[in-house]
Amino acid sequence: MNLPNMKEAQKRNITPTKYIYEERIKSDIFKGRKYSIKTYGCQMNVHDSEEIKALLESMGYIECDDYEKCDLVILNTCAIRENAHDKVFGFLGRLKHLKKTNKNLIIGLCGCMAQEEHVINEIREKHPYIDIVFGTHNLNELPSILKNYYGKQDIEVYSKEGDVYEFGNLYKRDSKYSAWVNIMYGCDKFCTYCIVPYTRGKQRSRKSIDILKEVKELKEEGYKEITLLGQNVNAYGKDLDGEIEFSELLKKVSDIGIERIRFVTSHPWDFTDQMIDVIASRDNIMPYIHLPLQSGSSRILKLMGRRYTKEEYMTLYNKIRTKVKGASITTDIIVGFPGETEEDFKDTLDVVDACKYDGAFTFIFSPRENTPASKMEDTTSLSEKEDRLQRLNEKINSYSKLSNEKMLGTVQKVLVTGISEKDSNKVCGYTENMKLVNVEAPKDVIGSIINVKILEAKSFSLDGIIEE
Ligand code: 5AD
Ligand code: SF4
Repeated sequence: MNLPNMKEAQKRNITPTKYIYEERIKSDIFKGRKYSIKTYGCQMNVHDSEEIKALLESMGYIECDDYEKCDLVILNTCAIRENAHDKVFGFLGRLKHLKKTNKNLIIGLCGCMAQEEHVINEIREKHPYIDIVFGTHNLNELPSILKNYYGKQDIEVYSKEGDVYEFGNLYKRDSKYSAWVNIMYGCDKFCTYCIVPYTRGKQRSRKSIDILKEVKELKEEGYKEITLLGQNVNAYGKDLDGEIEFSELLKKVSDIGIERIRFVTSHPWDFTDQMIDVIASRDNIMPYIHLPLQSGSSRILKLMGRRYTKEEYMTLYNKIRTKVKGASITTDIIVGFPGETEEDFKDTLDVVDACKYDGAFTFIFSPRENTPASKMEDTTSLSEKEDRLQRLNEKINSYSKLSNEKMLGTVQKVLVTGISEKDSNKVCGYTENMKLVNVEAPKDVIGSIINVKILEAKSFSLDGIIEE
């Protein structure tokens, strides 16, 4: 049984950071062992994997992208929809076979699925080949879990989140130019369809002093862009006894002078006029806002527990469009929520027509165990839901193409992040308003912000040439 680092640290009368450090120093038995992490789901998981990688590498593990050669494979999972569960167990089946030839392979599972009770039970009963399981609340336990592992399935998941502890800037970041910065963990909104408040726990904001320190360090390391990360970023600080709110944090982060600041995800209910004013008035806060709608029907929004009506959402949307010049606004929409009628769905299409989103992620409602919506009566057939999704996507795609076409002929500042996936002769990057651009340019521009003239607009990307 692994005790939480906090308790161990207290016992030894040392700080948690020192505890982790000491543990690592002692653990050179892991030197040269190979690991791989497969990450599912949202940016939060991507960023957690960056932390897991740093923890493993500080123990001596080396990253390896060939699963067959690995000593340790970790699946960082997502629980937001049912298909995420199916994908994970499909992949686990493949790993199980690898164990026949690689007897020392350790299979680990973490992330939101690991916080679900029925998944834990399923693992205990049916999947003995999964060696270690740890939850979203005790990521940092991984080194001690591995050290204590002796061949018997070890499930170390805490049902309750702890406070926010600072372990320093300990990440193996995927990019050298653009970095994620957690500003909060968990979510208190309890939208009736959503599992996140159960898997990630209640909202816990990091102290602004720690966030600002991390951003300063990233700037010094040469990062050009940071994205402030949280399930509900604009509720930041509400759990900190009024110390600071999101618009204040944005100002302070902006003052540090890093070139580009982004943030995801915002909840319409927490969006204030002050936030809009700060975004509009600061050049280094990027004009890109992800503003999940979920449904355009006020009746369904109420059932979802979203705390706004169609009209209130539209008022906010128009305010942002008017004040933040050249902003891109994207959204998330769920179709087929229990009880959604054709009339309700038409309300969603109405909002899409009115907002002409720059892009959207669209989903069919997926009942999640123990959420209120999973117990609501749902009489709409799957084929009807699929039909709604298709009709919605056609609209969304046409508006996204339209929004890209508006960029034609303009000159955009693009932060070049790597080689284009579509054409290895090109590099790619993002405009200030978060449009993906492919551009013919020498590779040495990777990592810098260049001017690009937009010559072609596709549905999901733009093509351009360098403008000196
Ligand atoms: N079913 C379908 N989509 C969901 N989302 C969250 N929970 C569910 C669910 N149970 C969507 C929401 C959210 C996005 C991250 O995933 O649109 O904004
Ligand atoms: Fe889930 Fe709602 Fe919280 Fe977003 S705001 S993470 S949808 S509960």
